[in-house]
Amino acid sequence: PVIRREDYKPFPWLVPQVELSFDLGISKTTVQAKLSVERNPAANADPVIHLNGDGLQPLTVLIDGEPTDSWHMEDADLLLSLPGESHEVTITTEIDPSANTQLMGLYASDGMLCTQCEAEGFRRITFFPDRPDVLSTYRVHMTGDAEAFPVLLCNGNLEASGANDDGTHWAEWHDPWPKPSYLFALVAGQLVANTDSFTTMNGRKVTLNIYVRDGDLPRTGHAMESLKKSMRWDEKVFGREYDLDLFNIVAVSDFNMGAMENKGLNVFNTKYVLADEDTATDSDFDGIEGVIAHEYFHNWSGNRVTCRDWFQLSLKEGFTVLRDQLFSQDMGSEPVKRIEDVRVLRGAQFPEDSGPLAHPIRPDSYREISNFYTATVYNKGAEVIRMMRTMVGEERFRAATDLYFDTHDGEAATCEDFIRAMEQGAGIDLGQFRLWYSQAGTPKVTVRLEHDGETATLHLSQEVPATPGQPEKQPMPIPLKLALFDRETGKHHGEQLVTLTKAQDNFSFAGFAQPPVLSINRGFSAPVTIQRDTPVEDLVFLAAKDDDPFARYEALQDLIVSHLKQAVDGALDLAAMQSAREAIARALGAVLADDTLDDLMRGELLVLPSETYLAETMLIADPGRIHEERQAMRAALGTMLEAEFVALHQRASAVPFSLDAEARGARKVKTQALIYLAAGNPELGKQMAWAQYQGADNMTDRQGALMVLTGLTGIERTDALMDFYNRYQGNALVVDKWFALQASSMHPACMAHVESLAKHPDFTLKNPNRVRSLYMAFAYNPHAFHAASGEGYKLIADVILALDPINPQTAARFVPQLGRWRRIEPGRSALMKEQLERIASAPELSRDTYEQVSRSLG
Ligand code: ARG
Ligand code: ZN
Repeated sequence: PVIRREDYKPFPWLVPQVELSFDLGISKTTVQAKLSVERNPAANADPVIHLNGDGLQPLTVLIDGEPTDSWHMEDADLLLSLPGESHEVTITTEIDPSANTQLMGLYASDGMLCTQCEAEGFRRITFFPDRPDVLSTYRVHMTGDAEAFPVLLCNGNLEASGANDDGTHWAEWHDPWPKPSYLFALVAGQLVANTDSFTTMNGRKVTLNIYVRDGDLPRTGHAMESLKKSMRWDEKVFGREYDLDLFNIVAVSDFNMGAMENKGLNVFNTKYVLADEDTATDSDFDGIEGVIAHEYFHNWSGNRVTCRDWFQLSLKEGFTVLRDQLFSQDMGSEPVKRIEDVRVLRGAQFPEDSGPLAHPIRPDSYREISNFYTATVYNKGAEVIRMMRTMVGEERFRAATDLYFDTHDGEAATCEDFIRAMEQGAGIDLGQFRLWYSQAGTPKVTVRLEHDGETATLHLSQEVPATPGQPEKQPMPIPLKLALFDRETGKHHGEQLVTLTKAQDNFSFAGFAQPPVLSINRGFSAPVTIQRDTPVEDLVFLAAKDDDPFARYEALQDLIVSHLKQAVDGALDLAAMQSAREAIARALGAVLADDTLDDLMRGELLVLPSETYLAETMLIADPGRIHEERQAMRAALGTMLEAEFVALHQRASAVPFSLDAEARGARKVKTQALIYLAAGNPELGKQMAWAQYQGADNMTDRQGALMVLTGLTGIERTDALMDFYNRYQGNALVVDKWFALQASSMHPACMAHVESLAKHPDFTLKNPNRVRSLYMAFAYNPHAFHAASGEGYKLIADVILALDPINPQTAARFVPQLGRWRRIEPGRSALMKEQLERIASAPELSRDTYEQVSRSLG
């Protein structure tokens, strides 16, 4: 069935209190749930209470302590007739966590028990109104074998615990903050904690624990530091203080997503907790800092103020992503973080917006909500709130978020509530801006700059493309930061913000005797694409001189993208090709030589636009041609700048290991240099990469060198891969890297490698990290996935079909890659569609996969 946003109705019953009692066992856990229920005065009365279930059978059902048979099952749900206004409903169920391969609800992960309830996992534990607008306080009693489960954790505070004579022990937890069921969590297992503490701005002393497996304790330091920084930052920047005496994090190795913000008991994928320099890269360290912050920030944007229904998901996710992005900007390099975030948006969200799965940040309908944990809801959602912040400025933005938190604390709110708080708190009219919540598709802004006499006139027009279900669009407010540079002095008279609200508009700027150079959408102030025939000399000017580092990056990217597009189209003869490559080499050469740049920024400027992004800029893409031309360009640059890259690599190699920005920057440019050198001069690249691999005293250098070697042929490749595996065999997260490097490699035999890795004893479809490390890496490796034979498509379709019965949520995440078929050249397109149809015709598809496949076929 399709769930629609317009059908929202408040639940007829309130459930102010819940008492849960768990008798824990890996293959049998008994759950007794006691719900105090009362009529919801704000809803239409209904004598029947509808309790969601998923794969449950009730063992007993009691009303006010008495057995009853006034219930029946409706599909997986339990419907119970209640005679009066308020009752106590007690239901007992039994579940088998060891059989739970979906990893939703209560499941087993290497001998421990843990939960994932967002969005609709709680109904796999007990019958309950499993919707985010039913808020309850929870008291939880749990009993389990003291040896198998020495640590017993739940939300809130530990109130009592003790031992029984039969080898079991128990704990009782109470969470004073009313919450929806999706924020419930329970963990039981053999765990050890890194314990620390934090004193809040009002003097509350909070105990912090990060629970991990015994041997992993030494790798929790960075996560703990990140947590304390997050807590301090949220106080300082958003005025948000933590509200319990205890904050627990548990790392688990089987997890569908990154992490989960359960009240007082965050559950994390080990990937976002464990790090040290020998086993984690610099970008892993950043990922941990960002995800720890994200989940912590949810305590206010998500938990204290939660969502009314799942259509409002971006209310908590878009806002929390913005909060974690701003935090990471403050912790490290602001422009570098901005570039990374825009790269993710363009690489993951733009393709969503331009394909069959396009949806607004606040969707209107779904079949399976898990399919809407998307880059659109998360990352575009963050961009939409960032635009509001840009329009009103930091101070008024803060006034508005204060108002939002104050007004809706303890409530299940809507995106509309957020917008209204923004209007009132910041004093801005967002009437038209609301379209960003309802319209899907990336707006295209066409830009033309005219110069006449002393005046420069900017002609802007916008078009929001049609998307499935939304053929007609209205113009939206698009805030564009811009600057006009004087060609002679290389300076401008200050950045301005213009907001394009109409389909077309002009903006005039006086005082320009000469045509200025336009820098537009600075800092990526709006999540749009800019269409403009920018003169090459202007791009070269901006790539060298723009004082906005993002705009400078953008100009360099534009220069490369426009060249590659022409090359892919076959529009360039040899001479034109050569002169364009020389121009790009000069621009990159300037980046290499510019000593005002730090290496972290230099590293960003050196990254070529991805094949996915290049494909996205074309109406119909030929992935084979894109790969060839991009590799050819990389090789040409590697050859033309060989001496410079060798010198850069040498300089950077002299910087000793540390986690500070300078040393991290050095590591980043070092591997960038290797990538170019390996493309231009494979023998030299191989020798240098092998030397970097052997001399590495940290994972960033080691992985970077191995990545380069994995794309080449020769004995060094084999030796390095074998050495890496042997060295880190016992470490699942590093073995994941070993799989991923091979599946994402430039090696022509990548597909064959993936096929044989699937038979490796360490490979399993049961662990999502391992599945992603092999198959996601492959599906997002354009040259391998888009093999002209169609074998890559078949391989991914086989994975979807094999994984669907085990873990439908993860299986469905592979569908969007095949869903790109309409935007790919006809030969491959037909092969992609064929695989989608093969999946569609399989018997008994999960709701997750069915929805994605049917939307993809359109
Ligand atoms: N709320 C979590 C986060 O953003 C993600 C949980 C997603 N769960 C799911 N089943 N899709 O951090
Ligand atoms: Zn989140």
